[in-house]
Amino acid sequence: MGFKDQIDLSRLPEHIAIIMDGNGRWAKGKGKLRVFGHRNGVVSVRDVVEGAGEIGVKYVTLYTFSSENWSRPRLEVSAIMELMISTIHKEINNFMKNNVRLNAIGELNMLPEKCYRELTSAMERTSQNTGLVLTLALSYSSRREIVSAVKNIASKVLSGELNIDQINEETIENNLYTSAMPDPELMIRTSGEYRISNYLLWQIAYAELYFTAKLWPDFRREDFFEAIVDFQKRERRFGMTSEQLN
Ligand code: IPE
Ligand code: IPE
Ligand code: MG
Repeated sequence: MGFKDQIDLSRLPEHIAIIMDGNGRWAKGKGKLRVFGHRNGVVSVRDVVEGAGEIGVKYVTLYTFSSENWSRPRLEVSAIMELMISTIHKEINNFMKNNVRLNAIGELNMLPEKCYRELTSAMERTSQNTGLVLTLALSYSSRREIVSAVKNIASKVLSGELNIDQINEETIENNLYTSAMPDPELMIRTSGEYRISNYLLWQIAYAELYFTAKLWPDFRREDFFEAIVDFQKRERRFGMTSEQLN
């Protein structure tokens, strides 16, 4: 029996976040340049997105490029940006066919003009789709996202639109890039690294974390289903005791 058949579709995580890591090491292991790994990582993205749509996951959020990644060698950064442009361009027909709505979070204004245009035009074209919401975290830093939320809130307080006593968790949530989404219930990281790397820090407060040694270009929908099966075996206690839940 495959992992897909073991999934209880009535208890699917609504939102799954993925840290797609290990492209560079995958390429190096094959004696190729890092870019080769990024290119093959796109195959994994396509497969996982299709798999998510197949079982009816509502939100998938992919860590595609972090704010910290701007510090990589210039050639790698430009290769990733080029890859993004060509991939979004090529995938748009698949998104339309599969009813996928493309979304993005991060400091998008930092992206090269052409990448920004390709992205926003694809977001526009898919905006009426009602299936999977595929969010790309691009030039994304969770701490910067929180800083920007704090600034928004502070300016509302200054203008008298908001009272300090009214600030609560919901106020913060409403000012994050992810305000239109539920929090991820499951966070997957590939490549055997056990860290969060500045991803969705507020939003994963109670997410289940799943780590796999597989490098991202080797990750397929079957691995994604396996993570969901693992997720469904866990008891999410939210601070309560096991007895209280049963
Ligand atoms: C993830 O793979 C892709 C990006 C961060 C853009 P890496 O490029 O980080 O691959 P490793 O971790 O060096 O193997
Ligand atoms: C995290 O991977 C960012 C993305 C997957 C886009 P990194 O490879 O940049 O993370 P660190 O530097 O190893 O923590
Ligand atoms: Mg990495």
